[in-house]
Amino acid sequence: MLTIRQAAFDDLGQITEIYNDAIEKTTATFDTEPKTPEEQERWFAEHDARHPVLIAEQDDLFVGWTSLSQWSDRCAYSDTAEISLYIKEEYRGKGIGKKLMKAIIQEGKTAGLHTVIARIADSNDISIELCKSFGFQHIGTMREVGKKFGKLLDVHIMQLIY
Ligand SMILES: CC(C)(COP(=O)(O)OP(=O)(O)OC[C@H]1O[C@@H](n2cnc3c(N)ncnc32)[C@H](O)[C@@H]1OP(=O)(O)O)[C@@H](O)C(=O)NCCC(=O)NCCS
Repeated sequence: MLTIRQAAFDDLGQITEIYNDAIEKTTATFDTEPKTPEEQERWFAEHDARHPVLIAEQDDLFVGWTSLSQWSDRCAYSDTAEISLYIKEEYRGKGIGKKLMKAIIQEGKTAGLHTVIARIADSNDISIELCKSFGFQHIGTMREVGKKFGKLLDVHIMQLIY
């Protein structure tokens, strides 16, 4: 059974494990160095009811997380958030990402956000299609703004307006 709930401070270790695995193996994030517990604590403290972190558990096993983070600390951007979504490698392709995404988009709506932005590296077609299926529109591409694993990478910007 899949359960989705608000993340607690004690979940941070598992969130970090999944994120650090994605840092090491994928271009889904442009971080290149593993996050330390202290960095992750600072990240978690920047989240609140308006910027939630949700986690998914499959039969009590931690399998993924998603968040809405502040897009910018400049106040006029306060109704804009950026989405993150990471599923543990062996649980991908089983519909969990879709369920977490549905839940976090609903959270953003309830919190009164106006728009959600996704930044997706070129070649992450699954994420692009997933965003499209929830009504995100492709609003632009930043060319060659990242370099990871020796390759220059474009970043697609996708946007959902509630
Ligand atoms: C991208 C990610 C979050 C998607 O979560 P997921 O649980 O694997 O995806 P789901 O099983 O919910 O599938 C979502 C859609 O993608 C499709 N999909 C999933 N895996 C796929 C694959 N390997 N090949 C083709 N399509 C795939 C599904 O068919 C589904 O589409 P549908 O509803 O039309 O059938 C997950 O794969 C992941 O964590 N990837 C690494 C990190 C990442 O890229 N995060 C996003 C950063 S922007």
